[in-house]
Parts: sequence; C-alpha cells; structure tokens
Amino acid sequence: MINALKGMKDLQDEQALLYEKVIKTCEEVAKNYGFSFINFPHLELSKLFKRSVGESSDIVGKEMYEFIDKAGNEVCLRPEGTAGVVRSYIEAKMDKNQSIKRWFYHGSMFRYERPQKGRLREFHQFGVESFGIASVYEDASIILMLNEIFKRLNIRTQLKINSLGCKTCMNEYKQKLISFLNSKENFCEDCIRRKELNPIRVLDCKNEHCQNLLTNVPKLSENLCECCKKDYEKLQKLLKDNEMAYECDEKLVRGLDYYSKTAFEFISDEIGAKAAVAGGGRYDRLIEYLDGKSGYGIGFAMGIERIMAILEQNQTKQARDGIYLCALDEKYIDEIFKLGTILRKNHKVLISYEIKKLAKHLNQADISNAKIFLCVGEEEALKEEIFYKNLESKENKNIKLANLENEI
Ligand code: HAM
Repeated sequence: MINALKGMKDLQDEQALLYEKVIKTCEEVAKNYGFSFINFPHLELSKLFKRSVGESSDIVGKEMYEFIDKAGNEVCLRPEGTAGVVRSYIEAKMDKNQSIKRWFYHGSMFRYERPQKGRLREFHQFGVESFGIASVYEDASIILMLNEIFKRLNIRTQLKINSLGCKTCMNEYKQKLISFLNSKENFCEDCIRRKELNPIRVLDCKNEHCQNLLTNVPKLSENLCECCKKDYEKLQKLLKDNEMAYECDEKLVRGLDYYSKTAFEFISDEIGAKAAVAGGGRYDRLIEYLDGKSGYGIGFAMGIERIMAILEQNQTKQARDGIYLCALDEKYIDEIFKLGTILRKNHKVLISYEIKKLAKHLNQADISNAKIFLCVGEEEALKEEIFYKNLESKENKNIKLANLENEI
C-alpha cells in the first residue's frame, strides 16, 4: 500500500471546493487593492533562501527539502514565496528604477517540520508582495487588506504588530541585546545558535526558561531611530483611524531574517493554541541581499490549511440534496437506469448500479448526502411502484411510478 508522505494531504471534493472558495475570496480583495497574479517556480536554487530567509531561521537550518539536481545544482522546494517573488522582480530588472509592482500568489510551500494540527510539510499559502513603496500607508493598506479577507471569510482574528527598525537602529539595538544576552547563562541550544546568527530571534523563543532570562531585556521600541519611530507611530494612527484593533508585541520578530521596520501577525483563537493564520512585514533590504538595486518591499502570506480548519469547524453540515436511486435485484437495473435518465432532466440523481441489501443502500445514500432515497425491489416492481424515503424528514411510502415526478 502506497500512502501519501507524512505531513502531506490530499484535498478531495468538499475540501477542494473550500480551498477554491478561500483563494477566490483572497483574490477578489487583492485585486481591489491593485494586486495582480504572479506564478513562479516551486523549485529554486537553495542559496536563494539561504541568503534571504537566513541561516539562523529554522526554515533554512532544519526544514528545507534540498537535493542536488542532475546538473549538480543545489536546489530546494520553495519553503515560502517572498524570496522567489523578489528574485523574479530583480530578474525582470524592475529593481533598476524601483518600479511599483503589486503581486499576489498562491500554492504549495514545503517545510520539513514535525507534522501536527495546522502544521504540514506541504501546505498552501496565499501571499502578496508590494514593491517600490516606502510609505507607511502601504504597510497599513496591506494589513487592512488582510483584515478584509478575514472579515469576508468570517474568521475572528487578532493583530499583533512590532517595528524591527532599520539597518541603523537595528544594528545599535543588536549590540545592546548581545551585551544583555552575554550577561545571562543557560539559554537553550537554539538560542545559543541564534545569538551568534541573528540575536533578535532569541526574543521569541518559546522556552519558558529563556523567557524568564529575558525579563529585563532592552526593548526594541525604546531603541528605534527617529524615522522608524515616526513610521511606527503613524502606522498605529492609521490602524486606529480605520478601526483596526491591534496589540504591540515587543517580542514579535518573525521566524524569517529578512524583515525590517513593520512586522505583523494575525492570530486566531479559533484554532487551538492561538496559532498564526498569517504573517508578514517590510523587507526593504531583501532586494539588496539578492543582488538587486536597493528598494522597498512589504508583504504577507496566510496559511490556507489553517484558514480551512477554522471554516470546516464552523461550517454547519451541508443541506441534503438530490436523489439516490437503486435496486434490490439485478433484473431492475436497466429500469432504474432509464428512470434516472428521465429524472435527471429536473433533479440531481445518483444511480447505484450495485445490488445490495436495503440497509446497505440506505447507508450509502446517507454518506452521499442525498435527500431522497428511491429503491425498486420485487414487491414494488410487481405493483409498478417505487419505495420512497425522505432522508431529512424520515417520511417513507411507496409511490406509483406514473406519479413519481409529482410526488418527489
Ligand atoms: P510565515 O510566517 O513563515 O511567513 O508563514 C505564513 C503563514 O503560513 C503562517 O502564518 C501560517 O499560517 C502558514 N504556515 C507556515 N508554516 C506552515 C506549516 N508548516 N503548515 C501549515 N501552515 C503553515 C512567510 O512565509 C513569509 N513569506 C510571509 C511574507 C510575505 N512576509 C512578507 N511577505
């Protein structure tokens, strides 16, 4: 028996429809905000992610699906979308004159994580990336857009924001942070590694002991330069003016290394342990990291499986619909086949070609979510009738075949 790989899931029928519905809602909102579609490869050179997402991140450190291709290139399945979109922007030379470009995308991402509820190895994101705009109005606009998607999907979320500062203030803050971290002992192994590679990642360590050590850690918000402070205050004013509730979270640093200034996450208490349903932020320096001309970028990605899990949990069972038509003996199959063809002019009809006991047919009809059950057996055939059961109201009777259309 060949099964799907651990952490990889099929989407069938109802789930596939739900996936399409979520994407359609995201697309409608993104288009209203001036975004257009971009598709880009699932496979890229590994160094694209090493240089962007960063060596200190769990994604690059432990989770990439990497291999050497037949030409000897070190390649990997995309663990996220931003790096590929930035690569595409630079490759199309749009960085040369800092073109304004707004793209949205959706599709599979791959991370070799430990699978659990809401955490898969192949998962899907809907994301947007906006290039060429330094103004904090774009940051607010992107957050409001994401909130509009959640509103249309009827999902309750909470927004957390932070500012990670620019090159200047972040570097100064890192020096203060390193001195503080060096004054403490017994951080977990991950934090010891992060301290060397990207010390701000220590701030969001989930280990309780590490968090206790961080009690009096210098605050990012108290170390922002004038420009970053002004932008952060303006972002908060824009959110307030547009009735967007938020919480400032000093420890929100995101799991990817490319962010500067605005960072944000939407969490939802509708899926267990307040998991993030979307995250993003500004990444003005990323274009340079990938050898482009320096410019501006900001975006977000949301986890479709997490959204679907909430929607499925909130969904009331779909109303029953259609007819399940069957027979108890082989000799009536041709007859019900003909009857089904006639009924299909006005009804949705599922014909069973199998011969089973009545109870087994009823069970099958229930699974198929049909509303009406019609069955021909010996007794009915002799009287030119059919057995009828309404699977919603449970009413059942025999109906003359000649009256069938009028009585169902
Ligand atoms: P991220 O926070 O790594 O950001 O992922 C965004 C969202 O993808 C998460 O909030 C979560 O809902 C979903 N997600 C992440 N990992 C998994 C997983 N293993 N299983 C299921 N869902 C998952 C990014 O990927 C950035 N590229 C976002 C961005 C775009 N920043 C700027 N532009």
